[in-house]
Amino acid sequence: MTEASAPPKASSAPPKASARQLCVVVPTFNERDNVPRLLAKLDAALAGIAWEVIFVDDNSPDKTWDVVRGLSQSDPRVRCIRRIGRRGLSGACIEGILASSAPCVAVMDADLQHDETQLPKMLGLLQAGEAELVVGSRYVSGGSADSFGSTRLGGSLFATKIAKGLLHVDVADPMSGFFMIRRDRFEQLAPSLSVQGFKILLDIVATAGGKLRVVEVPYSFGTRLHGESKLDSMVVLDFLGLVLAKFTHDLVSLRFLLFALVGGLGLLVHLATLYIALGFGVQFAEAQAIAALVAMTGNFLLNNRLTYRDQRLRGGALLRGLLLFYLVCSVGLLANVGVAFSVYDQQPVWWLAGAAGALMGVVWNYGISSLFVWRAK
Ligand code: GDD
Ligand code: MN
Repeated sequence: MTEASAPPKASSAPPKASARQLCVVVPTFNERDNVPRLLAKLDAALAGIAWEVIFVDDNSPDKTWDVVRGLSQSDPRVRCIRRIGRRGLSGACIEGILASSAPCVAVMDADLQHDETQLPKMLGLLQAGEAELVVGSRYVSGGSADSFGSTRLGGSLFATKIAKGLLHVDVADPMSGFFMIRRDRFEQLAPSLSVQGFKILLDIVATAGGKLRVVEVPYSFGTRLHGESKLDSMVVLDFLGLVLAKFTHDLVSLRFLLFALVGGLGLLVHLATLYIALGFGVQFAEAQAIAALVAMTGNFLLNNRLTYRDQRLRGGALLRGLLLFYLVCSVGLLANVGVAFSVYDQQPVWWLAGAAGALMGVVWNYGISSLFVWRAK
């Protein structure tokens, strides 16, 4: 045999696959029992359409990703993205949409609360050029959210009002988690979208600033089949953060807002501890140091729960993070006590000195911790 110097002959053309028209992106977290059911429903609803489904799973403890991979083995229309070390509904949707080459992309929940039988109609609207974004809407005539309790329905409607008023969003149901968009339009907007939070549709509509042609299709929000909702009280905070970010044209980010919030609380904790310690007759310098330690621990735990909950440290990592937090902030603590002490030296006003020291420490803590403690993986 002669040495093969020429490049290998193209062995064969890629297998003939009819061009995909539609990709359905399904974010999942602990949905293993719902996934096979959803797949069967998509299969029935999308007959005659060249489609694929991408499940974007944030490393679910119930191993939803494993179930998806199993389905994918026997059905090439099924794909799985397993994300490790990340959490977030919006981020998962963005990643799934950008992983597809289909011209039209839908986002829907895994738990069968969204109505997959609307998908062909939604696709038709996009393909006919009547819309660039089709929203599955609970709040246009024909739609409903009967499965919502009155509290959640009230909250949803109130949030919708705020979004429409502040962000000039002209969509009846901008909080919907069910929509279909042209991928080329999405790719234009993607760099400006927030990966944190739950409200990706609101983000899309607000970011597009009225430049997307939107059509709403009514549907009834059903009841969840298996498992439970992942939306907790945090969703309110997420929502406010998104509105704030969009309202200020990204001047104020959600993380910044949470930083400031936790910082403010930390200051209160610090002053309260200082007050109590002084009441117990502790010397000022020691009292200030104790107060700083208490505030730092509180700040760490709260930031871990709120500010960085998408990169939340747990178990051993939590302890390591806390120790690292102490370590990188020990300089800040020294500066804190030093500043406070010198202020107190000149003017023995405990709260002024305490606040000056705490402020010094808090600014330092945030800067360093975002670099070293919760650094994105
Ligand atoms: N990958 C990933 N990561 N998926 C997630 C995460 C996450 O952090 N959190 C939730 N999900 C998945 C769930 O597994 C589910 O498939 C879907 O996102 C929606 O989450 P639910 O927990 O079922 O939310 P919900 O039913 O209370 O609210 C949904 O519907 C509302 C009405 O359309 C959400 O889509 C809301 O944004 C929407 O307003
Ligand atoms: Mn749900």
